[in-house]
Amino acid sequence: MHLLGPSLLLLEYLAFSDSNKWNFKHPDTLYAWEGACIWIPCSYKIPGSKDLMENLTVYHNYTYDENNKDYTGPIFYQKTKTGESHVQERIKFLGNRNSDCTLSIHPVQAQDSGQLGLRMTSEDDKWMEKIVLNVSKTAPPPRIQLPPEIQESEEVSVTCLLNFSCPGYEIKLNWFLDGSPQQTSVTSTSLTTMAVYTQSKLTFKPLWENHGKNLTCQLWNDTAGGLLSQETVQLDVKHTPKLTIEVSPEEAIVTTGASVTMTCKILSSNPEVTNIRWLKDRTPVREPRREQKTLTLTLSQVTKEMSGNYYCEAHNDIGSGKKQVTLQVHYAPEPSEVQISPSPAKEGGTVVLTCVSPANPPPTNYTWFHNTIKMTSKTSKVFHIPKVLLSHAGNYSCLAENSVGPGLAGKKAELDVQCE
Ligand SMILES: *[C@@H]1O[C@H](CO)[C@@H](O)[C@H](O)[C@H]1NC(C)=O
Ligand SMILES: *[C@@H]1O[C@H](CO)[C@@H](O)[C@H](O)[C@H]1NC(C)=O
Ligand SMILES: *[C@@H]1O[C@H](CO)[C@@H](O)[C@H](O)[C@H]1NC(C)=O
Ligand SMILES: *[C@@H]1O[C@H](CO)[C@@H](O)[C@H](O)[C@H]1NC(C)=O
Ligand SMILES: *[C@@H]1O[C@H](CO)[C@@H](O)[C@H](O)[C@H]1NC(C)=O
Ligand SMILES: *[C@@H]1O[C@H](CO)[C@@H](O)[C@H](O)[C@H]1NC(C)=O
Ligand SMILES: *[C@@H]1O[C@H](CO)[C@@H](O)[C@H](O)[C@H]1NC(C)=O
Ligand SMILES: *[C@@H]1O[C@H](CO)[C@@H](O)[C@H](O)[C@H]1NC(C)=O
Repeated sequence: MHLLGPSLLLLEYLAFSDSNKWNFKHPDTLYAWEGACIWIPCSYKIPGSKDLMENLTVYHNYTYDENNKDYTGPIFYQKTKTGESHVQERIKFLGNRNSDCTLSIHPVQAQDSGQLGLRMTSEDDKWMEKIVLNVSKTAPPPRIQLPPEIQESEEVSVTCLLNFSCPGYEIKLNWFLDGSPQQTSVTSTSLTTMAVYTQSKLTFKPLWENHGKNLTCQLWNDTAGGLLSQETVQLDVKHTPKLTIEVSPEEAIVTTGASVTMTCKILSSNPEVTNIRWLKDRTPVREPRREQKTLTLTLSQVTKEMSGNYYCEAHNDIGSGKKQVTLQVHYAPEPSEVQISPSPAKEGGTVVLTCVSPANPPPTNYTWFHNTIKMTSKTSKVFHIPKVLLSHAGNYSCLAENSVGPGLAGKKAELDVQCE
């Protein structure tokens, strides 16, 4: 029983003081700069439903006077039942006597920084409400907010925020990526008792080339067409390794016995490359030479078996990059072989002779020999004998030639002609 008394009293006290509290809603701090304006969205509720606001005094940098038990300070604005007195023309009360306490200051001065005190009285109650003003000499920079991670080719939204919005002073937030204006942004404003701001949201797909580049948000005074302030951040765009291959000789075409150098360069990688290698078809090539940003593959004494597709492949923590080069090895025709069809041939029948000789590039001309005598009239890969005579019988050989040089005459083949 003894303990119950004081706690009941405390509850009663809390209930009483709560019911006596005037309920204000407005942003705690409003930001602006010299020459701009301030709009203060503000709502209030007087305890006791029938009460109306009688008098309003807006103080600036007020203090409490212990002797007079009242507030003092420079007065910005005053309103009584009988009228209002603008101590300063710049300050306007746009509210009413029961719920709205919206204020505007236009233009605003740097000296307006500090505290506004809204002193309100009703028939039998009074209240002092504090609103902080932060007015800088020049416009503060907007703030760019980036997502925690940005990856190439993945759409991102970045925002540029300024705690400012005031009807009568238009502002624009403009984006620049690596110096070029970005048009894909959407601007929104909030002018409520909860928050006052202007925000621009830029949605774009960053390229790996944007890594390390400047992203800028500029604040423009649209009416005057002037740049007021800006913020720049450097983009950190995660991307797979980007490679380029340089080959010497340039066309990646060599003749047997020559040497070729393929250099794989890491143009860019974020994060760093963990592993880089050369592959031929699907097999890693041994012993390339690694330098900081390059991996060099040197093939000396090239053989025709070395022709094919070479890949440079690099990995980092988010993926891999690959580049291909096709090596062509040119060689003189291999020792040729003569194919005769049909064999044996029938006298009076048809026979086809073909000179087979692998070569790269393909042979351009052929020389045929019949029983070691050069056949000056025959210069192509295939020749037909439409009507075989006994005199056609004998040994044939051929010799192919391409841009690299002539090949060797290989095995001869014997044309056997059977009489009817
Ligand atoms: C309001 O202001 C008028 C004029 O200054 C004054 O006479 C009146 O007492 C004030 N009312 C309240 C409720 O403070
Ligand atoms: C009001 O106070 C702020 C700091 O609290 C000061 O910067 C400003 O100059 C003061 N303004 C006036 C008019 O006294
Ligand atoms: C005003 O706001 C800026 C940021 O915009 C801040 O750096 C500065 O300290 C603030 N000034 C006061 C007096 O609160
Ligand atoms: C802007 O307002 C938000 C929320 O009211 C606050 O968190 C932020 O610090 C403010 N920014 C600046 C630059 O004052
Ligand atoms: C990027 O921004 C920095 C600092 O804001 C500036 O010094 C630099 O010149 C800018 N770079 C380019 C390429 O614009
Ligand atoms: C912004 O534009 C308005 C309207 O033209 C002008 O009055 C004001 O001085 C300008 N402010 C700045 C800082 O340029
Ligand atoms: C083959 O053709 C090339 C070019 O047409 C010519 O220079 C060369 O002498 C020819 N070789 C023979 C063996 O006919
Ligand atoms: C063709 O070659 C064979 C074997 O080398 C040889 O026995 C034959 O005498 C040759 N025929 C002619 C007509 O030279």
